[in-house]
Amino acid sequence: MEYENFPQTEILRDGRSIIVREMTIRDEARMVEFFQGLPLEDRLFLRNDVTKPEVVHRFVRETEDLVLALVVEFDGRIVASATIERGLYGWTRHVGEVRLVVARSMQRCGLATVLLRHLVRAAPGEGIEIVKAFVAGSKGGALRALESLGFNKEATLRRHVKDVTGRKHDLLILTNDVSHIWEKMEALNSDFSPVLGG
Ligand SMILES: CC(C)(COP(=O)(O)OP(=O)(O)OC[C@H]1O[C@@H](n2cnc3c(N)ncnc32)[C@H](O)[C@@H]1OP(=O)(O)O)[C@@H](O)C(=O)NCCC(=O)NCCS
Repeated sequence: MEYENFPQTEILRDGRSIIVREMTIRDEARMVEFFQGLPLEDRLFLRNDVTKPEVVHRFVRETEDLVLALVVEFDGRIVASATIERGLYGWTRHVGEVRLVVARSMQRCGLATVLLRHLVRAAPGEGIEIVKAFVAGSKGGALRALESLGFNKEATLRRHVKDVTGRKHDLLILTNDVSHIWEKMEALNSDFSPVLGG
């Protein structure tokens, strides 16, 4: 579904030019390459084993519950994936879930901030008032990144995640209401511009 005019070219704060656009089924092979290129620590906590081509095959096709699915291209390769999914049950239809993955070589340049801004823009039109994210384990950059983007820890489900190596971790649920995220985004954009243009 079109919420903004994609593709959009953005210049990251380190000067690299990237393209943000909607994911299509033609991205399948490059998505496999992207996910297989992620270091183990960054994919340990992804919900599915996205290094398996059949998982990516379904991911690029079964998009009916996704409000928006974005990819980022740099140098002809996919370097990030971002989705927002609507609540699947009647009573959580106002709650959307975001998932963000950024290639190591592109992290800490403001890319997740840019992607979250796009995802959040798509939320109100779908009646999404609360955005949630799942993070496994309390260590690592993902929790700090989401907290810095305005999410708050809402709940911890102990030992709810078994990673691809079989180890168990706590599952943290982080949430934020869309209007609050918008305020945060505006504040982030005025204090510090992760991108130019866009
Ligand atoms: C979490 C993730 C998406 C962040 O992507 P990113 O593009 O590097 O994030 P940004 O550059 O927009 O960072 C925004 C802020 O988050 C914080 N942050 C991001 N990564 C961090 C890290 N590793 N350690 C501490 N803080 C971090 C910083 O405050 C950062 O702002 P700053 O760079 O100006 O200090 C990325 O680390 C990732 O893909 N991790 C693996 C997958 C995952 O766990 N996804 C989360 C589940 S939804």
